[in-house]
Amino acid sequence: MELKTTTDIRIIKADSSKINSVDFENLTFGNIFTDHMLICDYNNGKWEQPVIMPYEPFTLDPSAKVFHYGQAIFEGMKAYKDEHDDVWLFRPDQNFDRFNKSAVRLAMPEVPEDVFLGGLHKLLEIEKEWVKKGFGNALYIRPFMIATGSGVVAAPSTQYRFTIILSPAKSYYSGEVKVVIAEHFSRAANGGIGAAKAAGNYSGQFYPTKLANEQGFQQIIWTDDATHTKLEEAGTMNVFFRINDTLYTAPISERILDGVTRKSIIELATKEGIDVQVRPVLVDEIVEAAKNGTLQEIFGAGTAAVVNPIVGFSYKETYYELPKPENSFATFIKQQLTGIQYKQIEDTFGWTVKI
Ligand code: COI
Repeated sequence: MELKTTTDIRIIKADSSKINSVDFENLTFGNIFTDHMLICDYNNGKWEQPVIMPYEPFTLDPSAKVFHYGQAIFEGMKAYKDEHDDVWLFRPDQNFDRFNKSAVRLAMPEVPEDVFLGGLHKLLEIEKEWVKKGFGNALYIRPFMIATGSGVVAAPSTQYRFTIILSPAKSYYSGEVKVVIAEHFSRAANGGIGAAKAAGNYSGQFYPTKLANEQGFQQIIWTDDATHTKLEEAGTMNVFFRINDTLYTAPISERILDGVTRKSIIELATKEGIDVQVRPVLVDEIVEAAKNGTLQEIFGAGTAAVVNPIVGFSYKETYYELPKPENSFATFIKQQLTGIQYKQIEDTFGWTVKI
């Protein structure tokens, strides 16, 4: 896939770079941003010329709809550097498509391909130095769109800003990840916005996740809102369960994000001969498998989290510790996936795109 770069982008360069003041060995996720960002405003029913400019705060009217009604969506992507100093994206078309699906669901205008993908290409050319070599190093890409129109009437805005910011990143989770299975709170409901990458899907999780954090758990695995019997996704990642040698993950629905890492793992694992079953995964069967010793692994999958093993889960006040199998699927899949992303393993899928 080639990135379309036809849009005429205005470029305003920063006077100096802060790159030399960054400690790339000790990054906490999402705190440091590169020298430039891309912005593109939507006014009078059309997208204006995109601008790449120094990273700086926005000024918005206090009545801007994003503040009152949360009309905001985002994406998460990464750029990787290979041994030859070339920079690569992983399936950027998938993020672009999902972004515009989220836009439609939130009654926002779709962003043109040459603004989203073409703008990203240009921004990455300028910020190449910020992508560091080596497994685990990446430049996290955060495209987002907010409703900038003023007025507290509860109706869609007529003005929007699309922005791309970049943040050098290592891993999202720094220690072991233990989860709680949700029994009361819900992330999403049928007919709602759970499948969109909408800002509110994340803030709605903060309170229950804070309660889980206070009990020593890093994340919640959400269950279906109607019955709390089906396992769906975790706050920042989709989830996979390995019982014996079969890998299970929930099907995409109106409540579950169509994760790019998730769909790539399903394809990759299947190609590597692993039996992958995409079907509803019941809390009861996972608890039963944990009790009878057939539950081998649980892992999360997402752009920020990559492939993250879960060491144990709590359900109805009981904690279940997971085994550490020698032939871990999570380890194998992570090696294969990152091998493709960092161009150390041949990309037979055609997923990687060069900047
Ligand atoms: C990502 O994995 O890129 C996400 O968007 C999750 C985010 C909450 C860090």
